[in-house]
Amino acid sequence: MRIFILTGAGISAESGLGTFRDEDGLWTKYDLREVATPEGFARDPGKVHDFYNARRKNAAAASPNAAHHALARLMQSAHQEVTLVTQNVDSLHEKAGTAAIHMHGRLDRATCHNCRATWEAPAIMSPDDVCGSCGRPETRPDVVWFGEMPYEMDTIYTKLAEADLFVAIGTSGQVYPAAGFVAEAKAAGAHAIEINLDPSDVSTAFHEHILGSATRTVPEWVGRVIGQA
Ligand code: OAD
Repeated sequence: MRIFILTGAGISAESGLGTFRDEDGLWTKYDLREVATPEGFARDPGKVHDFYNARRKNAAAASPNAAHHALARLMQSAHQEVTLVTQNVDSLHEKAGTAAIHMHGRLDRATCHNCRATWEAPAIMSPDDVCGSCGRPETRPDVVWFGEMPYEMDTIYTKLAEADLFVAIGTSGQVYPAAGFVAEAKAAGAHAIEINLDPSDVSTAFHEHILGSATRTVPEWVGRVIGQA
């Protein structure tokens, strides 16, 4: 069986990393146009760096939870071919021992807004830092902002078209193109399962729903998949 898994902020919530749109979520405290758009970066790069420096520090201190570990067990099981795509910029899937496609980039990577060279991000980034490749002071976190193209979309659409099972975990279904993946996978014949605390905005597109916190629901679901193999 070929399984395509999409994760969102909800899978990392119980590791202590805030989500975006829940009560107390990041976008209730910050204006995303100021800190998560190329225009916001052009207006005030210091503010954008401060925002991501704080998030990088939180992410570095966080540990993977039972849901990340369960997905790692699933990916190591010999019976399924699993593609794991995350919208998260933390590295908790990697800390749990799995490789994930980071369609919205990674906090622990830096890039140059000018020449797009990439490197390991230092703990603190600043508008004065210069790019080691082109020498311009245009370094930025290697994260995808609103209005920019997410990473690895060709690979993602190929894997969606091949999937037998599509599973979305901990994502509100409010941000495209990720929110449209369920429709793509279903059009290609996949069965679709949503695992989330609450029904998402695209909930009706799924065949099956598993409601509850990720640390309980994901290990239970993985146990069933591995048990059936
Ligand atoms: P959201 O904050 O929009 O949604 C998080 C989802 O996780 C919600 O549906 C919650 O109900 C659910 N949730 C919260 N705690 C959970 C738990 N313990 N177990 C299971 N589910 C839980 O986050 P995303 O959908 O990931 O993009 O947001 C998508 C994108 O919007 C992000 O990648 C980011 C953001 O703006 C960019 O910055 C480009």
